[in-house]
Amino acid sequence: RVAYVNGLYVPHAEAAVHVEDRGYQFADGVYEVCEVRGGRMIDERRHMGRLQRSLRELRIVMPMSLGALGVVLRETIRRNRVRDGIVYLQVTRGVARRDHYFPAPDTPPSIVVTARASIPAKVPAPAISGAAVITVPDNRWDRVDIKTVGLLPNVLAKQAAKEAGAREAWFVRDGVVMEGGSTNAWIVTQAGAIVTRPAESGILRGITRTVLLEVANRLGLTVDERDFTLDEAFAAREAFISSASNVVVPIVSIDGKTIGDGKPGPVARSLRDSFYDVAE
Ligand code: PDD
Repeated sequence: RVAYVNGLYVPHAEAAVHVEDRGYQFADGVYEVCEVRGGRMIDERRHMGRLQRSLRELRIVMPMSLGALGVVLRETIRRNRVRDGIVYLQVTRGVARRDHYFPAPDTPPSIVVTARASIPAKVPAPAISGAAVITVPDNRWDRVDIKTVGLLPNVLAKQAAKEAGAREAWFVRDGVVMEGGSTNAWIVTQAGAIVTRPAESGILRGITRTVLLEVANRLGLTVDERDFTLDEAFAAREAFISSASNVVVPIVSIDGKTIGDGKPGPVARSLRDSFYDVAE
């Protein structure tokens, strides 16, 4: 395996950034995870658009054009012979003596790209059998719309989920379900409406989420972009999560309570089945 680190392709085992990297010291950086399918990136354009927005919000100036970055992403995928898997990109504010203030403007950001194949099964087991989620209080900052590498609340939430035998943890604030530790959250009401929280604030605007909203529209399904409470989720006909690495995974239990009939539902399934018709 190889990784791209600041202009060089190096053996993955030796790929490293400096101890004074601001990503390491301050989580002062952003990232993207893009699915790779059949050797090509899914929704590269949207992921690059979100990357640019994250960088802009943090005032990190990319030293590389999107075109050049695209070449690096593709080359990393090629050199790792990834057909189906993910490519990971991280950009930090660079290396400088530890000091909270931004470093000198000529400090180059650190750019790292890795790629890895996913476990051979194209459709992972949870997509077929459904998965469990637990809920945790949302203790994150209010700029979770920026895809930063500062993920400690997410790490703790997802570890709690794992220890409870669940796949994901949903952050709940004032009774409202925000999103998962690394996924967006959805329900299907008893009336059949697909509900997911607006992305204006409080969540990451998932690329998969954006594509699935379009899929739902094309399938003629009713979509309601609004807040939903945990109580509504308990009473839902279906629930599911979305992300670049999961696409759609049905949720069959929340905090140990069975959702719907306890089996993956038809809406989650049809959204998943049509995802690649709309994804770029
Ligand atoms: N997670 N919400 C959060 C907090 C996320 O970290 C992610 C992505 C999503 C879904 O976004 P998208 O559909 O663009 O993948 C929602 C990535 C996959 C990760 O951290 O591994």
